[in-house]
Amino acid sequence: IKKIGVFTSGGDSPGMNAAIRSVVRTCAFHNIECVGIYRGYEGMIEGDFKPMDARSVKGIINKGGTVLKSARSLEFMTPEGRKKAHQHLLDANIDGLVAIGGDGTFTGAMIFNEEFDFPVMGIPGTIDNDIFGTSHTLGYDTALNTVVEAIDKIRDTASSHNRLFFIEVMGRDAGHIALNVGIGAGAEEILIPEEDLGLERLLESLRRSKQSGKSSSIVIVAEGDKIGKNVFELKDYVEENMIEYDVRVSVLGHMQRGGSPSCFDRVLASRMGVKAVESLLDGKTNLMVGLLSDKIAVTPLDQAVKGKSEINMELLRVSDIMST
Ligand code: F6P
Repeated sequence: IKKIGVFTSGGDSPGMNAAIRSVVRTCAFHNIECVGIYRGYEGMIEGDFKPMDARSVKGIINKGGTVLKSARSLEFMTPEGRKKAHQHLLDANIDGLVAIGGDGTFTGAMIFNEEFDFPVMGIPGTIDNDIFGTSHTLGYDTALNTVVEAIDKIRDTASSHNRLFFIEVMGRDAGHIALNVGIGAGAEEILIPEEDLGLERLLESLRRSKQSGKSSSIVIVAEGDKIGKNVFELKDYVEENMIEYDVRVSVLGHMQRGGSPSCFDRVLASRMGVKAVESLLDGKTNLMVGLLSDKIAVTPLDQAVKGKSEINMELLRVSDIMST
């Protein structure tokens, strides 16, 4: 391997810049070239490349978003699109790739590897933490802290007005963000896709909390929750069935994906970047770098995509006890 291409793809997440920096500097350390590929697979198809040296990534470790930009490419899903991308990589003498993104990014990378036998390593970057083979994806820790801070602020106004708030948080089909911020911010209830609480139990729990003297309440709802109602319908449902509460809804949205990465995410990104590049230099391919028991470990990309990132069931119990 003489020249590595690095790109970010899919939904951005805090820590992606720190990972780009790590990939670029690890290449420089090993005296090989590094090229930034803009807008993920879109830029690969168009040949939107830029050589990157160690100094070109100064001052980005603390920045949210991704300096290489990100996109979700439909064209890369076609054989023609991938062929164009391959030709651009060959023309630029790029002989290895580091893909930073989530499961869609890794699926694309695997297909590309299969078709062209192109060496590729993955770094999990998504706030959702929904990737098998790592306890933490890049950006997850930062998102947790961003969301907890936002909920703390909502709680201030909720308690001033004795209100009940339904707060929707991101996570796609996974409840990791909801469960952790729910405990961290002291929510009454947490609705996640992995556990069907049921509407009756929700009402009961809210009634109980009212009777126990609580004047305000926070219910965290994961965007992928399967209770059958979205946050606005939940508001209507609770208002119809429990007149004692003045109910409001807050959908936190994309602010959850922004902001300066936490120290944890910066360190994780730095470790993952080193491992991704050094794995390519060792002749490895088709693997994702992850964190397992605080050690950097690799998992085959297909397992990372197909495997399920299990929710920590102990947290569900802790949450139940805490809302007593
Ligand atoms: O995967 C990250 C994520 O922020 C999810 O939590 C959310 O469901 C989705 O991306 C939103 O995607 P978009 O930015 O395309 O609206």
